[in-house]
Amino acid sequence: MDRIRITGGQALNGVIRISGAKNAALPLMIASLLTAETLTLENVPSLADVRMLLRILGHLGVDHSIDGRRHGAAPDASRPIHLTAGDIVDIMAPYELVSKMRASFWVVAPLLARMGEAKVSLPGGCAIGTRPVDLLLMALEKLGADVAIESGYVHATAPKGLRGGEIHFPKVTVGGTHTALMAASLAHGHTLIENAAREPEIEDLADCLTKMGAKIKGAGQSRIEIEGVGSLHGARHRVLPDRIEAGTYAIAAAMAGGDVMLEGAEAGLLQAALDAIEQAGADVGVTNEGIRVRRNGAGLMPVDIATAPFPGFPTDLQAQFMALMTKAKGQSRITETIFENRFMHVQELARLGAHIRLDGDVALVDGVDELQGAPVMATDLRASVSLVIAALAAKGETMVNRVYHLDRGFEHLETKLGGCGAIIERLSNPG
Ligand code: EPZ
Repeated sequence: MDRIRITGGQALNGVIRISGAKNAALPLMIASLLTAETLTLENVPSLADVRMLLRILGHLGVDHSIDGRRHGAAPDASRPIHLTAGDIVDIMAPYELVSKMRASFWVVAPLLARMGEAKVSLPGGCAIGTRPVDLLLMALEKLGADVAIESGYVHATAPKGLRGGEIHFPKVTVGGTHTALMAASLAHGHTLIENAAREPEIEDLADCLTKMGAKIKGAGQSRIEIEGVGSLHGARHRVLPDRIEAGTYAIAAAMAGGDVMLEGAEAGLLQAALDAIEQAGADVGVTNEGIRVRRNGAGLMPVDIATAPFPGFPTDLQAQFMALMTKAKGQSRITETIFENRFMHVQELARLGAHIRLDGDVALVDGVDELQGAPVMATDLRASVSLVIAALAAKGETMVNRVYHLDRGFEHLETKLGGCGAIIERLSNPG
């Protein structure tokens, strides 16, 4: 298993190109199941999760091809992926595949909408909490599906097709909203989604579905209306920039100090995080090129945050922001409201010398003057990258183990940080 070695203490200076968003790319790829024609996606990041989803879609009958690199394109530029679900050969997604990546459960919606039946393994728990799918199933039932749980599998059927309905989510759910959008696009009649998630990735999926012929109004707001259509067609769509990747490197620049341009990042997608980073003492500037984050000598100020659905502070940046606060001059209070168990990074940050006390869904962080490098590991992707951020400002060497978590969600992490002056290196372990 690979490890990443970081020697802290270097400021970051340079340009980091922001990749396409993992959490938009995954549902967009799944949407290819809705049509027999080809869906072409540009700006798909090269990530372990994307490769895993290609395997899962392949199992269902989706053919894919990846274009060659365009002449003159940057060596790390992503290449368009063509996905064609001409023939769906299986309506079942087995446990061996779904358990590896939670988002793959979302195939249930397009399979059901297009084939009238889907059998998809329950994804099970994961490191950040129990993460049930009851609201996704509720949405499918509101659209007329019969849903049964059989031996760990969700078996959903709608032999005469789905029909429009009213879906009121009691809690904001990204996966629930993706599911409802995909299923309702091919349902007979009108669907209303209330208390929909407003995350930019929802809007991106809705934009792509619209290009494929779906009739959707209000995506990006909490009330979405969909008029079902008989079939969808092929389209070409560019995945939006990754706001979590951008926020992660913005926090890294604030932590290490220096001057970093996040090329292609869109401030509107992460305003709450940028506000918190500014309050912590970094300068954040927005230009046509992207977002510029600078911090020189001045110390970091403590900032209290609470995670919330978009446009609030994203849970996917909570661990990274906590890493930043470990060096603030004073106490900060970090509240996690989305997932019940998303504090696994706390123990590992403590190994680097951070002072953090947990009290239910609140972490109280007392900033320290100095962090010390140490061997660390983490059990999910955002937690892992929070350790990288802390390591950038720690004295001495930090070895981050279990790098596969990082590879699930951060494209070319060590090249991007190394290009800005970080001393960071991947060590490949055989076996
Ligand atoms: C998406 O997960 C993201 N994943 C997560 O990113 C992100 O943390 C999360 O949204 C919140 O923003 C992808 O987009 C692939 P939810 P999702 O349904 O859709 C509860 C990362 O690091 N809930 O919005 O699974 C749930 O337990 C990942 O990239 C139910 O109770 O999240 C949670 O408390 C991790 N019943 C809350 O809702 C349900 O049926 C929000 O979850 C569904 C969800």
